[in-house]
Amino acid sequence: MRSVAAVATLVLLSELLVGARAGGQNPPAAGAAARPTMNPLEGNRDAIQNGGAMFRNRCAGCHGPDARGYLGPDLTGLWASGWTDDRIFTVVRRGVPGTEMPAADPLRAPDRDIWQILAYVRSLGGGVPVAPPAGNAQNGERLFRTNCSTCHMVGAQGGQLGPDLSRIGSGRTRTALAKKVRGDAAYTRPGYEPVTLVTRDGQRIRGVRKNEDEFSIQIMDMRQRLQGYLKANLADIVDEQQSVMPAFGADRLSDGDLDDLLAYLHTLRGS
Ligand code: HEC
Ligand code: HEC
Repeated sequence: MRSVAAVATLVLLSELLVGARAGGQNPPAAGAAARPTMNPLEGNRDAIQNGGAMFRNRCAGCHGPDARGYLGPDLTGLWASGWTDDRIFTVVRRGVPGTEMPAADPLRAPDRDIWQILAYVRSLGGGVPVAPPAGNAQNGERLFRTNCSTCHMVGAQGGQLGPDLSRIGSGRTRTALAKKVRGDAAYTRPGYEPVTLVTRDGQRIRGVRKNEDEFSIQIMDMRQRLQGYLKANLADIVDEQQSVMPAFGADRLSDGDLDDLLAYLHTLRGS
């Protein structure tokens, strides 16, 4: 332990010294970004290896073990789609406010870590740009209006039982979206967990859980009303397995219609 810490300190010190010297020789112009705009570690074997380990720890849970996306988007095609190192770095450092994409705390993830992670992702290749899916987005929008809008907002329109989908096209892969529509239960959006309340007189009220403390629970019921209950008045609170979102099997939505719907969802990228 001690020696590892000592080596780490040494490395850190020498990096600081190098940094200080470089800074002394070339003081950055006021306001200029002190960090490089292109990945200084691209193609570096050690960096790729370290970056892989960090990616699995910090990013794979959302972007998938191979960075091809799950809850978060596919990252392997970004460069081919025209993203610069600088732009990607900035997103990772700052996160995407209002989405699950977290900011990277500079104390826990110094610039070097991020460059290593990006060196790893880039090494995965995948020169294929993230292509818009086949399918007719216009028909998809129509399908959305009839099947989905009652529960989901897009822009300022729609219901509130489910999450706002105005940006869902940039946040999720096609695979994840298709699975969700078909009824895959692997992922439930936090803040929308299905719950059934049973009152003392035997009434059952379904909805999604919004808030809960020791004495009370607040849900949005299936008629989209926020309702609060004192636990003392409830006989039971049942955590359901099945989302309140219905599964759209092939009987309700053909494969062709699913393609159209996915093409529409792909266009939803906020403004
Ligand atoms: C908790 C889930 C989560 C974690 C952890 C996470 N991301 Fe993300 N990431 C997302 C989501 C969701 C988006 C899409 C945000 C949006 O809607 O624009 C995203 C977007 C991105 C983007 C922009 C890509 C694009 O197409 O818009 C990059 C780059 C990225 N993440 C890299 C990373 C890296 C690198 C890590 C690890 C250091 C990481 N992310 C960790 C969920 C996550
Ligand atoms: C009866 C209400 C209801 C209807 C109708 C409904 N949804 Fe949902 N949907 C929800 C709820 C609630 C959630 C959040 C819980 C969950 O993840 O299962 C959700 C989650 C989602 C998600 C996941 C969001 C995320 O953050 O990943 C997507 C995508 C989605 N719905 C798309 C659709 C589409 C497309 C349709 C129409 C074909 C549809 N929904 C119809 C209630 C509904």
